[in-house]
Amino acid sequence: MIAYQRLIVRTRLVSGLILFAYVLTHDLNHSLGLISLPALEAGRLVFLDFWHFLPIRFAFYLSIALHILIAFQTIYQRRSLRMPASDMLQLLLGLALPLLLVLHVIGTVVANSLFGLHATYSYVIWTIWVAQPTYGVIQTSALLVAWWHGCIGLRGWLRLKTWYPDWRDLFFALALLVPVLALLGFATAGREISQLSQQPQWQAAMLAAATVPSADAIAELYRLRDLTVAVYLVALLAVLAARWIRQWWERSGAIVVTYGDGHQVIVQPGTTLLEASRIGGIPHASVCGGRGRCSTCRVRVISGADQLTAPHEQEAALLTRIGAAPGTRLACQTVPKGAVTIAPLLPPLATSRAALSHAKQHHGQEMEIAVLFADIRGFTQLSEHRLPYDVVFLLNRYFRAMGEAISGADGRVDKFIGDGVMALFGLEGSPEEACRQAVRAAINMSKNLEQLNQSLHHDLKEPLRIGIGIHVGPTIVGEMGFAGAQAVTAIGDTVNTASRLESATKEFGCQLLVSQRVADLAGIRVDAGNRHDLPLRGRSETVAAYAFSDATDLQTQEIQ
Ligand code: FES
Repeated sequence: MIAYQRLIVRTRLVSGLILFAYVLTHDLNHSLGLISLPALEAGRLVFLDFWHFLPIRFAFYLSIALHILIAFQTIYQRRSLRMPASDMLQLLLGLALPLLLVLHVIGTVVANSLFGLHATYSYVIWTIWVAQPTYGVIQTSALLVAWWHGCIGLRGWLRLKTWYPDWRDLFFALALLVPVLALLGFATAGREISQLSQQPQWQAAMLAAATVPSADAIAELYRLRDLTVAVYLVALLAVLAARWIRQWWERSGAIVVTYGDGHQVIVQPGTTLLEASRIGGIPHASVCGGRGRCSTCRVRVISGADQLTAPHEQEAALLTRIGAAPGTRLACQTVPKGAVTIAPLLPPLATSRAALSHAKQHHGQEMEIAVLFADIRGFTQLSEHRLPYDVVFLLNRYFRAMGEAISGADGRVDKFIGDGVMALFGLEGSPEEACRQAVRAAINMSKNLEQLNQSLHHDLKEPLRIGIGIHVGPTIVGEMGFAGAQAVTAIGDTVNTASRLESATKEFGCQLLVSQRVADLAGIRVDAGNRHDLPLRGRSETVAAYAFSDATDLQTQEIQ
């Protein structure tokens, strides 16, 4: 069974890559229309020579058949059709493709096989640009749908590669560029052919060269198109009906999945724990879409471990690789046979990068990172005469502005505490980089606060003011919390010192206090700040820090 599933995953990937290569080369061929009609036609001959080479042609047709069959099988097997938006979009685009492409395939490939039509670019573009523009719209949609479907699938595969983040922007640019060039090439050729078709002799020669089939043959092709569409739709409906019958049959043996926070979801036998979360609307991370490759769906089994299917080889290998604690399972690969209680281990929006870093930090790890604390000055007075709704609105605007400032500097918001924010920097980089990021975040926060004050100036008696403290040093970083409230966070003296610096901004009437060590590691000049030696609560030593009346005083220092 496991070997079969792996074969399905592998077949889906390989067939998808072959089909994506076809779409890519076809789109690149279209883009030659930007050069000239002869270039477009010459490109078609190269394209056909390659894709008509017998082994490649065989692999291509086999890929189409297997890709559709695997999609049908996936729909049949899924216990729930609830899935992340990108997975749903990929599925819907894929299901729409045969309907959008059927006439094009029958009007070119099949017409060539049955009636000897030479579907040159001039003929095809004349047909859909001049003779039947409605089909031009359908073909344009098909081009975009095929490309997006392929790009979503490709991204799902690539984003788990460690090198992907470095290449993501390039891939994104290509994902936009290729269809734009293809459509521009198509439109340029369409306009040229539209003008040429004003000349009766050109049109007659073009149609003669294409050896257009008779009217009866064309009617036959349309009948074939209708039959193909009907067969496809009946097959799709049959799969949905079979799925519904199976669910009805299995309903009698319902299984209860309980979550650490007490939520319960009742599922049918055969449902994975990840599908149970989706059925119950319980947020659950699943970066790889349930393919057992990312580990973000992992759960701790609180009770009922003996009611779960045994981990297969691939799941066991992945859990070992990330150093998972005993009792951890991949929700997407685990099927309960009886009542179980589980707790997802990663936050619902966890990324694959977070999954890997969590793996290192799962059991706690000492790391030198930068910690930033920020707090609104006088928030108690500010909130005193406001309705609760106003306070929540104001805080959410503030949190959003601060959160964007921190993530824009590659930091990570650790938590919002009351009207305060704690952020971590350098979970994946050097302490120097962490300090530069933290200082950049402070500058961003100051700027965002200024903008927020401007947009709220009618609602506020006086502008919001904040205090920010930043310190760097060794911390214990690990996954902490309970049940659904677990996340990677940091503890230790460094955190306490950063918090102390933040509260000291009140004493010094400044916006930012950075410790000497942060200033040294970030490489910032401190001439604009005032030096202070702060005593630390419960300790004899002091921490040297620089106070800046405004964090933007540091922005001229080219923090990289
Ligand atoms: S969702 Fe990726 S391993 Fe389960």
